[in-house]
Amino acid sequence: MEYRRMGRSDISLSEISIGCWVMGGDYWGGADDKESIEAIIEAVENGINFVDTAEVYGRGRSEEVVGKALKGRRDKVIISSKVWKSNMRYKDVFKACEGSLKRMGTDYIDVYFIHYPNDEVDIEETMSAMLELKKQGKIREIGLSNFSREQMEEALNVGRFEVIQPCYSLLWRFIEEDIVPFCLEHEIGIVAYSPLAQGILTGKFTKDWKFREGDERKNVPLFAKGRFEKCLEVAEGLKPYAQRHGKTQGQVAINWVTSMPGITSAIVGARNAAQVRENLGGAGWRLSKEELKEIDKIGRQVTDHLPKFENFFSHRIIG
Ligand SMILES: NC(=O)c1ccc[n+]([C@@H]2O[C@H](COP(=O)([O-])OP(=O)(O)OC[C@H]3O[C@@H](n4cnc5c(N)ncnc54)[C@H](OP(=O)(O)O)[C@@H]3O)[C@@H](O)[C@H]2O)c1
Repeated sequence: MEYRRMGRSDISLSEISIGCWVMGGDYWGGADDKESIEAIIEAVENGINFVDTAEVYGRGRSEEVVGKALKGRRDKVIISSKVWKSNMRYKDVFKACEGSLKRMGTDYIDVYFIHYPNDEVDIEETMSAMLELKKQGKIREIGLSNFSREQMEEALNVGRFEVIQPCYSLLWRFIEEDIVPFCLEHEIGIVAYSPLAQGILTGKFTKDWKFREGDERKNVPLFAKGRFEKCLEVAEGLKPYAQRHGKTQGQVAINWVTSMPGITSAIVGARNAAQVRENLGGAGWRLSKEELKEIDKIGRQVTDHLPKFENFFSHRIIG
């Protein structure tokens, strides 16, 4: 496992990290706390040092699970959480942070993200609260998630953030155009979410897949009828590379993300220890330059035809 410095901070992150959204249950058709805790322990006992959660995941449940799993292991990990859109007013940011600290049973958060931009609250107001939290030692570093380049520029005028958290995978590459160059220029780290395109790139889905009750993936753009089938072809296209390296398609997809310029870590979600074990195999080896180029072409069969959606979860087209 490689460890990469996050921006200009003194924090280094494992190239693969664990995402704990699924552990909240909501959106994902449920979760099992025991399995979630086992998944986090499996991750941190095997070289993953970065655990990502948010107050909104399962309305606190994910943070509670993280707290339970990391009891006695706090010093081994870098924890990130996020303040939700509805808590971006100055005073609310402090309350939200206190809530997250309490649920996780810790007295500091290593990386605290603003989860989404919010047109109704001036970024100066939210960033000022984040900077004050940092001064107080409640958080170590500030991160932004789902911000455009212009929004990042505005935030940087208020204060320094060391990392961003955008969506990035072989099937979702919008950040390459302007966000990655901005981060490289300003030495800001990038932790990529949904690197498996929420499971598509593992190759486990079939055209007629029946998502269980409460699993909302079926409603997001990549899973829409017509496009979903094309995404499955991309996953299928990874098979020869997986076979050549004795890997799985998901491991190839993760390795592709961590090979891309500017990427500090791929945040891979997992609902149990078996998934974590498989995802860990995305590290410790490298696809060749030639293979990266070929895989790039495979992914472009989808991404070259993808309209610019507002984000991974919205069907609103913005460009
Ligand atoms: N900042 C943001 O706005 C934002 C947005 C999204 C995600 N995130 C963060 O990024 C993390 C990762 O993103 P994500 O969870 O959306 O997508 P992902 O990492 O691409 O996919 C994770 C999901 O794929 C399935 N999976 C994972 N490993 C597998 C394996 N080895 N074999 C088969 N299936 C496997 C699991 O779901 P099933 O078992 O149910 O199929 C798992 O929940 C999240 O947990 C969260 O921490 C942040």
